[in-house]
Amino acid sequence: MKDSHGRTIDYLRISLTDRCNFRCIYCMPEDGVQSLAHEDILRIEEIEQAVRVAAGMGIRSIRLTGGEPLVRLGVVDLVRAIAHTPGIENVSMTTNGVLLPKMADDLKQAGLSRVNISLDTLDPAQFKQITRRGELQQTLDGIEAALEAGFNPVKINAVAVRSLDQDYLAFAKLSLDRPLHVRFIEYMPVGESSGSHGCGWGKDDVVPSEELFGIINERARAAGMDELVAAGDDRPLGWGPARYFQFPNAQGTVGFISPLSRHFCSECNRLRLTADGKLRPCLFSDDEYDLRTALRSGDEQAARTVFAQALGAKPDEHHDKVGTERGMSQIGG
Ligand code: GTP
Ligand code: 5AD
Ligand code: SF4
Repeated sequence: MKDSHGRTIDYLRISLTDRCNFRCIYCMPEDGVQSLAHEDILRIEEIEQAVRVAAGMGIRSIRLTGGEPLVRLGVVDLVRAIAHTPGIENVSMTTNGVLLPKMADDLKQAGLSRVNISLDTLDPAQFKQITRRGELQQTLDGIEAALEAGFNPVKINAVAVRSLDQDYLAFAKLSLDRPLHVRFIEYMPVGESSGSHGCGWGKDDVVPSEELFGIINERARAAGMDELVAAGDDRPLGWGPARYFQFPNAQGTVGFISPLSRHFCSECNRLRLTADGKLRPCLFSDDEYDLRTALRSGDEQAARTVFAQALGAKPDEHHDKVGTERGMSQIGG
C-alpha cells in the first residue's frame, strides 16, 4: 500500500485492549481510564478479519499492543491465526512483560516473531512509583522468560524522563552480555490535551536523544568502557523508527527513538487500529476511521474502503502537534 505521500505502508499496530495490569503514571490515572464497553471492543474474530483485509491490501507486519496485550483473553490463539494469515510475514508484540513467564513459550509456539518489553527504570522503588502496582522483578522475570523461550531480538523500551534521572548507563549495559536491545524513547506528551492523566511531566522532561547519547558515552568513559559506535548490519530485525548503536563486542545494541528531536514521519510505514476498531492514520492525529462498523456489516469491500480512506488521510508529518485526545493506553503507543 502506498499513501498519498509515496510512503509504503506495510505495518499495522493493533491495540488489543485498553486495560492493563499496571497503571503507569504517564499512561493512566490511578483508578484506570474509563474502560471501553465490552461490545465496543473488537472481538477476536473481528481482529482476525481485519488482519485478513489488511494483508490483502499489502500489510506484512502486525504489532500487537495495548494497554497490555497479554491480559486479553484468547491472545495466544489470535497470534497463531495472524501468523497463519497469507501475506503476513511477522507478528510482534509490545508488553510490560509481567505475563511472559507464564505465556512466552506458548506465544513462541503460536508464531510470535518478536517481543518488545517496556521497562523505564532499574530501581525497584522508582519502578513501583512509575507503574503504581508493579514490581521490578516481575518485568525482569518477563525479560528472562522471553530470552529463554528463544525470542531474538528482545527489545527493551525505556522512556527517558529528565525528572526521573534514570541510570542510563546501567540500562545501556544490559546490552553487553546478552542479545538485549535497549531503546531509549523521548517522552511524548500524548494524551495530555485530554487532561485526564497528566503525570506532571512536561516539555522540560524530554531528554533529546543526542543529549542522552552524550551522557551515556561520558558515563561509559568514566567507568573505563568504550563508547557506543554505530551498529553494524546485524542490527535487530524490525528497523522501526529507532537508530541503533552498540558497545564494541556487545551482544545487543542501544537504540534511540526520537519522535520529537528527529521526526521520522518521512519514513513512517504504519497505520494503527484501536481496541474499539478505529483506524488511525497517525499516532498524533485524532483523525479516526470506523473499521468496526464495516467489519460488523460483514462486507469485506466496506472494510477495504475504510483502510483506503485511512491510508489516504495519512498526514505527511505531525507538524509538532504531539497531543491527542486519547491516551496511549487507548491508542497502543
Ligand atoms: P519495532 O521497531 O518493530 O521493534 O517496533 P517499534 O519500535 O515501532 O514499536 P514499539 O511498540 O516498541 O514502540 C517503541 C516506541 O516508539 C513507543 O514509544 C512508540 O510509541 C513509538 N512509536 C512507534 N511508532 C511510532 C510512530 O509512528 N510515531 C511516533 N511518534 N512514535 C512511534
Ligand atoms: N512517550 C513515549 N513512549 C511512550 N510509551 C507510552 N507512553 C509514552 C509516551 N508518552 C511507550 C511505552 C511502550 C510503548 C508502546 O510506548 O513505554 O514501550
Ligand atoms: Fe500499562 Fe504500558 Fe500504560 Fe504502563 S505504559 S499502564 S504497562 S499500557
